[in-house]
Amino acid sequence: MARIVVLTGAGISAESGLRTFRAADGLWEEHHIEDVATPEGFARDPELVLRFYNARRAAAAAATPNAAHRALARLEADGRHEVLIVTQNVDDLHERGGSRSLIHMHGALTGALCARCGHRWTAPAVMRVSDPCPACARPAARPDIVWFGEMPYRMEEIWQALRRADLFVSIGTSGNVYPAAGFVADAGHAGVETLELNLEPSAGSRLFDAARHGPATRIVPKWVAEMLGEA
Ligand code: APR
Repeated sequence: MARIVVLTGAGISAESGLRTFRAADGLWEEHHIEDVATPEGFARDPELVLRFYNARRAAAAAATPNAAHRALARLEADGRHEVLIVTQNVDDLHERGGSRSLIHMHGALTGALCARCGHRWTAPAVMRVSDPCPACARPAARPDIVWFGEMPYRMEEIWQALRRADLFVSIGTSGNVYPAAGFVADAGHAGVETLELNLEPSAGSRLFDAARHGPATRIVPKWVAEMLGEA
């Protein structure tokens, strides 16, 4: 039984039609991070921020999991390996693809959070600035997404899983944003084998023991088939 920690980023959902951030047509080409992905941006213009995430929530709901999401779920369901997915993605394609052991370190589009009292609830398809918080009734609803300058969720659990893993696999992430971009070094320092599966070499590619490049829907199912002794 190998303990495998898989980090995923926007690239695993690209072939499901969801935009990544730093490609030529990426989300950060159209929106300023400081306007839509920081607490200050939300305080300045909550309407703009809710509109940005309403659009991403609708896109995620219209998307379907692809062969890479499904292959990771198959690896977990097989039972011979202990698989934990740590995703930077806020879409729910891993869940809908069948994965169960999953941490959304940057939050999720399906979550709403009260910026005043901290209450969390399931986000409606369309969030409005006037939405009253179900707990404190104040109109301070924000997406339960981790913005720049905020601490990602469940980090102690993630670092512990990385240290005790046999294998760390990074899929579809450019390795630009910490702390996720540092996981390969954390794993390497703990003597964990590391593998990158990405469309092209990421910023941290040289830190990996091994790397395979190509579209996730091709290289992830192939890697999973090898792990299950089918290839
Ligand atoms: N198959 C595999 N990899 C792909 C594919 C594909 N079809 N398409 C793109 N990629 C790769 C790109 O080569 C790139 O390395 O996915 C990566 C996407 O990088 P980013 O757009 O930077 O997305 P990500 O790494 O997830 O960003 C991390 O930054 O903006 C914040 O919070 C946001 O979670 C996000 C974080």
